[in-house]
Amino acid sequence: MSNKPCILSIDQGTTSSRAMVFDADIQVIASAQQEFPQLYPAEGWVEHDPAVILDSVISVSRQALASAEQQGYSIAGIGITNQRETTVVWNRSTGKALYNAIVWQDRRTAEQCEQLKQQKLETQVQARTGLLLDPYFSATKIAWILDNIDGAREQAEQGELAFGTIDSFLIWHLTGGKVHATDATNASRTNLYNIYSGKWDPWLLDTFNVPKQLLPKVMDCSAHFGDTDNSLFGRAIPITGVAGDQQAASIGQCCFAPGAIKSTYGTGCFVMINSGDKPVISKHRLLTTVAYQLEGKPSYAIEGSIFVAGAAVQWLRDGLGLIDSAAETESLAAGLEGNSGVYMVPAFTGLGAPYWRPDVRGAIFGLTRATSPAHMVRATLESVAYLTHDLFTAMANDGIKPASLKVDGGMVANDWFLQFLADVLALPVCRPVVMETTVLGAAYLAGRQLGIYGDFDAFTALWRGAGEFEPRMEECQRSDLLEGWQDAVRRAT
Ligand code: G3P
Repeated sequence: MSNKPCILSIDQGTTSSRAMVFDADIQVIASAQQEFPQLYPAEGWVEHDPAVILDSVISVSRQALASAEQQGYSIAGIGITNQRETTVVWNRSTGKALYNAIVWQDRRTAEQCEQLKQQKLETQVQARTGLLLDPYFSATKIAWILDNIDGAREQAEQGELAFGTIDSFLIWHLTGGKVHATDATNASRTNLYNIYSGKWDPWLLDTFNVPKQLLPKVMDCSAHFGDTDNSLFGRAIPITGVAGDQQAASIGQCCFAPGAIKSTYGTGCFVMINSGDKPVISKHRLLTTVAYQLEGKPSYAIEGSIFVAGAAVQWLRDGLGLIDSAAETESLAAGLEGNSGVYMVPAFTGLGAPYWRPDVRGAIFGLTRATSPAHMVRATLESVAYLTHDLFTAMANDGIKPASLKVDGGMVANDWFLQFLADVLALPVCRPVVMETTVLGAAYLAGRQLGIYGDFDAFTALWRGAGEFEPRMEECQRSDLLEGWQDAVRRAT
C-alpha cells in the first residue's frame, strides 16, 4: 500500500452528495458528485429517501476512493459534512428509516411551532439553544414522525428507535450499525441541545415531547467516531471529522477569529460570524450556534439563515425551464441595463432570518408585457443579494459591522452575482480559490485528528483568495433598489 496519506471528505448536501479526496497539502486529487430526487408530497413538505441518500454517499465515496488509490494514495480517514436539521428516525435493529428524511426546508410543523410561541416559550428555547421556534429545526420534525407513524412513539420510548441528523444516519450505516453519534455543531441545530451545558436538555426534550432514548452521543468535530464496515470500502477506514455543512464551510474559510465572517450560497444562503468562546444571543432574530468543538471546547457563531438561494436558480432550470444550466444566469442578468422594476421574493419554503415567516410563499412583482426570461433570472439573482442585505441589517442592529465578506458555494462562480452582492451590501466580497469550502472544512477536521493537517494557523496559511469584488454602485441607485425590494417583501408578507 502507498504511503501517501489523504482524506476522503463527504458532503451530503440538500440536492446532491459529493465526495472529494484531499492530499496532505490540501489539494483536491479526486472527486465525484451525484444529485438525488427531492420529494414534495404536500404543499410546504420536503422529503428525501434516506436509503437513496445512503446509496449516493457510498457510490460517490467509492468513485473518489478508487480514483485516489489509482493515483497511489491511501485514505487515512473520512470527514463527513451534511445538510443540517434534516431529520431521520430509524429502527436500531434493522437500520431502516421509519419515514422519509424530513428536510430542513419542510414547513409541516409550522402550527406546532406557533402553538409553542403562543405559550410564550420562544425566549426560553432561545436562551438554551440559541435558536428560535421555527419548523426549520429538528425537534418538531422528530415529534411529527413519532406522532404520525403507527407505534413509533411506543417503540421510541422502549429504546428501539434512533434519531439522527444526516451525519448521524450516515455514521450509523457506514459503521455497520455500531455507532450512534453526532457532533456538537449538528446537535446545536436540533432545538434539543443546550449550547451552554453542551448536553441534551431535559426541559427541551419535555417541551418538544422527544424521548431521550432516541438521541445520539454528542462528540467533538475532530474525533474518532468509528470505523467503516469492511464490506463498504474493502477495509475499515476511521471516520475522524464531522460538522454541519455551514460550520464546515466556515472552517474551510478559516473563520477562526471572533468577527471572521463567511456567506455560503448553496441550496440556501447561510451567513456565519465567529463569536469566540462565548455564545452571543442576537436581539434581532439571528441564530446562535456552535461553530465547532475541539478538545471539548466549543466556539460559537451568530448565523443568518436564508432558505432559498441556489434552490431558486434550480427552480429556474428545472421548474420553469427558463435556463439549461445555472451558468447561463450570469450572461442573462448582465445583458440587462437594470431590473425594470421586477422583484421576486423567493419564499418557496417560507422566509428564514430575520423574518421567520413559515407561512409566506414566493411572489413576483412588477411584471409587464416587456418582462422577459432574463428579467426573471435577474430578479432571482438580485433577491438572494437583497436577502443577504436583510441579514446584514439585522447584524448591524446587533452591533456587528464587518469590513468585508468571504463567500463560497455554487452561486459564487457567477461574477455578476458577486458584483451585485458587493454593490448591495456596500462591502468588498472575496471569493476563495477553493469555492467548495464545505467539503474542505470537513477534510480539515478529519485530517487534523490524524495529524495530517496542522493547527488553525497552519491551515489558514494555505487559504487563497481568487479575487475581490469592490462595491461600485452609486448610493442613490442602491437605496432605490433596496426600497423596491422592501416594498416587494411587504406585499408578499
Ligand atoms: O441548514 C440547512 C443547511 O445546512 C443546508 O445547506 O448547502 O444544502 O444549502 P445547503
